[in-house]
Amino acid sequence: MRNYAIILAAGKGTRMKTEMPKCAYPLLRKPMVAYIVQNIKFADATDETVVVVGHKKKVIKDILHDEVKYAIQEKQLGTGHAVLACENQIDDMDGNSIIMPGDMPLIDEQTIKNALREHNERRHDLTIVTTNVEDPTGYGRIIRNDSGYLDAIVEHHEATYSQRMINEINTGIYVVKNNILFKALKQIDNDNTKGEYYLTDIVTVLKQSNYVIGTYTLKDSYKAMGVNDLYALSVAEGKLRLDINKKHMKNGVAMINPETITIGHNVIIEPNVTIHPNTYITGNSIIRKHAMVGPNTEIHNSDVGEEVICKHSLVYNSKIGRKTTIGPFAHLRNGANIGPENRIGNFVEVKKSETGTNFKASHLAYIGDASIGSDVNFGCGSITVNYDGKNKYRTEIGDDVFIGCNANLIAPIKIDDSSLIAAGSTLNKNVPKGSLAIARSYQVNKENYIMNKKQKEKQNQKSDT
Ligand code: UD1
Ligand code: CA
Repeated sequence: MRNYAIILAAGKGTRMKTEMPKCAYPLLRKPMVAYIVQNIKFADATDETVVVVGHKKKVIKDILHDEVKYAIQEKQLGTGHAVLACENQIDDMDGNSIIMPGDMPLIDEQTIKNALREHNERRHDLTIVTTNVEDPTGYGRIIRNDSGYLDAIVEHHEATYSQRMINEINTGIYVVKNNILFKALKQIDNDNTKGEYYLTDIVTVLKQSNYVIGTYTLKDSYKAMGVNDLYALSVAEGKLRLDINKKHMKNGVAMINPETITIGHNVIIEPNVTIHPNTYITGNSIIRKHAMVGPNTEIHNSDVGEEVICKHSLVYNSKIGRKTTIGPFAHLRNGANIGPENRIGNFVEVKKSETGTNFKASHLAYIGDASIGSDVNFGCGSITVNYDGKNKYRTEIGDDVFIGCNANLIAPIKIDDSSLIAAGSTLNKNVPKGSLAIARSYQVNKENYIMNKKQKEKQNQKSDT
């Protein structure tokens, strides 16, 4: 028997009032729908995930790629209509599906597991996951009969005044047997205020045929929060931020002013790390023990080594070796692989380059497409000239090299071990081992030049009068 997860992500997200499809919006720099897919995977309770896409489907597909199967809902005629679009993707009608909206980023793997377990153990045909909230505005209300059994789900727009007083809401998560799901979906209509096919109406249809319908009530209601507008997105992100930061702090990570610190869902931080304010660490980043990160720093998809200090800097898709200091105002990007005990200082940019141990570029430098050895000093204002307007070329620098200030290294170029590059040189030829390379004009001092010039000017003035 195969079990499926169905995620509804075809809707326009009209209440967002923006162009991006709602389920693609990021929280902590990760798209909403990606959280749901990941937690389904972590729950490890289903065999296949089908995502219903429609409005701007390419944006959602570009996020999830071939991690999931897709069902297309060409016209957005409601949540019931969206699930019906999956019929061809669900091969095993004896299995169950867990249906979830794509705008519920805080849902966790445990809730997914619990809902499926409850459904199976209690032998329900349909299980609705409900929760109790202080402000139920916008959600479908759970209507129970006198014995406490579920009678119906009534959407906010359709609810009477007294139904709107009900605090128990439909989270939008359902577990249901596939064979009865698609039969029921074909029986619902769109005779309601929105003119949509509501998935919630399967409750009424299945009740009429005496199927066993149960509920599972989620205690932590915030996990079921549906994000319908940009304010709700910021509330959900704030909640996620606090949860993640708390987990790290409890795990031995010090955070100064944690409200201003954003740590992504997949980031690993080892104990004894300190994070300073206004810092973002996202993607698949790892921060190793005794590192100090921030203030005002962004780190994305990067590996920060033990005892690294990184302040006021940007680090993307890069690696920093142990005991290296980065910043203030450094920019590492696109495969900068910085060795241990380096110093990458003020206004230094490094791209697609690797450095050995004890490399120093303390101020104002650009290092692109370079392989650099150990014990190298890269002087203030020096750059690798890696681009001729069409192609990029590599610079190779050996060990124990001193590059003076304001040197231009025109790539492709190789500077061999133990050499010295004179300040102000523009080099376009390789430098052999142990050499001094000077590529600049010699200085000429014209003595008494100023005094002589002034005297001449005075004489000219006299002869004029
Ligand atoms: C829905 C439920 C409501 C529940 C709430 C929980 C219905 C009718 N209502 O309301 O009972 O309390 O979620 O958050 O189901 N979608 C499609 N195709 C469509 C319409 C929607 O794929 O034609 C997708 C959306 O992209 C979204 C999800 O379904 O991810 C839910 O749609 P949304 O419009 O947000 O439903 P709610 O009004 O929040
Ligand atoms: Ca919603």
